[in-house]
Amino acid sequence: YVIGVDLGTSAVKVLLVSKQGEVVDSISKSYPLYHDQPGHSEQDPEDWVIATKEALKDLTDHLADPEQIEGLSFSGQMHGLVLLDKDNQPLRRAILWNDTRTTAECREIERNVGLEQLHALAKNPALEGFTLPKLLWVKKNEPEIFAKAELFLLPKDYVRYRLAGDLSMDYSDAAGTLLLDVAGKAWSKELCEKNNIPLSLCPTLVGSYQQTGTIQLEVAEETGLSTTCKVFAGGADNACGAIGAGILEDGLTLSSTGTSGVVLSYEETGDKDFQGQVHYFNHGDPNAYYTMGVTLSAGYSLSWFKDVFAKDISFDELVREAGESKVGAKGMLFTPYIVGERTPHPDSAIRASFVGAHASHDRGDFARAVIEGITFSLNESVEIFRNKGKTIAKVVASGGGAKSDLWLQIQADVFNAEVVTLANEQGPGMGAAILAAVGSGWYPTLKDCAQDFVHYQKTYQPISENVSRYQALFKLYQQVYHATKKINH
Ligand code: XUL
Repeated sequence: YVIGVDLGTSAVKVLLVSKQGEVVDSISKSYPLYHDQPGHSEQDPEDWVIATKEALKDLTDHLADPEQIEGLSFSGQMHGLVLLDKDNQPLRRAILWNDTRTTAECREIERNVGLEQLHALAKNPALEGFTLPKLLWVKKNEPEIFAKAELFLLPKDYVRYRLAGDLSMDYSDAAGTLLLDVAGKAWSKELCEKNNIPLSLCPTLVGSYQQTGTIQLEVAEETGLSTTCKVFAGGADNACGAIGAGILEDGLTLSSTGTSGVVLSYEETGDKDFQGQVHYFNHGDPNAYYTMGVTLSAGYSLSWFKDVFAKDISFDELVREAGESKVGAKGMLFTPYIVGERTPHPDSAIRASFVGAHASHDRGDFARAVIEGITFSLNESVEIFRNKGKTIAKVVASGGGAKSDLWLQIQADVFNAEVVTLANEQGPGMGAAILAAVGSGWYPTLKDCAQDFVHYQKTYQPISENVSRYQALFKLYQQVYHATKKINH
């Protein structure tokens, strides 16, 4: 067996996966999130460690012979800052990816580095969620803490340190710090110097399925794992989500609709210039990359709509009503900016719109407009990838948007690409298990392993008549942002 540990924002989920790629067991343990002040979002690293050990213990309790677990690896929530002192003790709570206190630091980074150079080296825009702005915030606001800092880690790296004793970070997660030279695969001296961050704070870089240690003796005693269980570095949750969905070759794209939505595409090189319009990160697959666009309110837009206008019916019922409407929601458009947007408009002040409502529209038409609007927002990212020469032929759909035939067909029609679903969707935890399987020597490459572990189920082909209708509507959709930009200013 191998174990994939998915260290998320609300919970850790551990998956036990057999040599045949079957998920034999899975355990989840939650932990608190602290929002002590508006915009703040923190977690106690100790809570991650306790929950992970408890979940591992439950898993081994179900197994006759835990010695059979050969390897373990991680998927981690990205960007969260864990600051360690000289004894490797956390100096404060971790500041998470969804913490928004660092707008001033983002502007400072842009001034320090210059936009062009930032995009050339870090390959990403300066966003509040990333790690460097958090380092600058601590330096400015908690100088006594920053003075004691010896090293920073990301969430899953800290948990791995506590299980296996090594202090390192893999490239896919390091790419979300804004301190990595993404194409050069090394910490950037220039980004450190220009932002006055000592290079010595940055940990050793490792590959995602590189072994970094084995389970330490006291951890083995607590969890029931064997000290022979190998521990592999792991990757960022989005990289692991890609691996777990088999996004391991050119031409494959992932669309994932949870609360927020992500479109992610495999890239063979790190040398394209997206001018910070989309995220451009190192993959868990060595020397590969992925591009990623984020719709802030994907599933959230639909659950908001249901809460406000359709409390009395189920989600399935609401989607059935939407299915009774027509392509284009009988001439109505929705932009899903209920809490602002990320890609392609990093704008927290933009607000959502319904455009084209008519007295004859019913709730199903509105629900359909919401689903289509979310998909149009994801398509903005697809179009950015296409404009840089990417062929988007096949999209693997996951999350809530992959649970409805209607939404899957809308995705195929709006993206104008074949859309497939996963047979046994497990999210990033499966990607972490694949990293452990390859690290353990079961397969030579991630792609070989995914061929056995990842199975596709249903296929949706674009219907040309719908494609043309959506292409026309998408042009109108794209104008709504600009027309409503000032609505909240
Ligand atoms: C990516 C991002 C989120 C977190 C969630 O840029 O902020 O997807 O990784 O864990």
